[in-house]
Amino acid sequence: MKNNISIVLLFCFLVMGCEAKKTKRQIKIIDKIPASFKMYKTSEMANLMRLMYVGNMQVRKQIIEGKEITDFNKAYLKIHTAKLTDVSDLDDTFATFATFFIDAQKNLNQVSKDTRKREFNKIVAACIACHKDRCTGPIPRIKKLIIP
Ligand code: HEC
Repeated sequence: MKNNISIVLLFCFLVMGCEAKKTKRQIKIIDKIPASFKMYKTSEMANLMRLMYVGNMQVRKQIIEGKEITDFNKAYLKIHTAKLTDVSDLDDTFATFATFFIDAQKNLNQVSKDTRKREFNKIVAACIACHKDRCTGPIPRIKKLIIP
């Protein structure tokens, strides 16, 4: 009997020991975040891009479901002036790609309902055209917007 109790106690100690270690490790991870926090700071342009992504994901759904589509979001016009993470992305062709994209996005709200799918995919093509030249990372995500 005495032996059994000490085995139970030993077991408890081992489990608690593990828990304590785990907690310690978690604290260490949390401690590390502030040092690298700067890396996660997003630029004005990156925030705008996320807005454009979410907005177009919504419009995509509306088109697929045959619903009325959201109006052109004037906030997208900031693509011409928003601050970028890396200013070297702002080369000679940026303005041209930006204008091409804005025109396509505006055009979607002008065309008839039955051509919306095609016109929407032109917007996605305009996103990708600009990204191909400078910021290729998000392209697989952007491609998910295409309406098959
Ligand atoms: C005129 C060029 C251009 C067009 C058009 C464009 N992008 Fe971007 N995109 C960029 C640049 C440059 C960045 C990097 C921004 C930064 O980090 O400051 C970016 C970044 C992104 C990101 C990553 C944001 C993040 O979280 O860091 C996503 C997602 C994105 N774009 C989606 C889109 C979508 C969707 C469209 C079309 C609706 C689009 N882009 C149109 C140039 C463009």
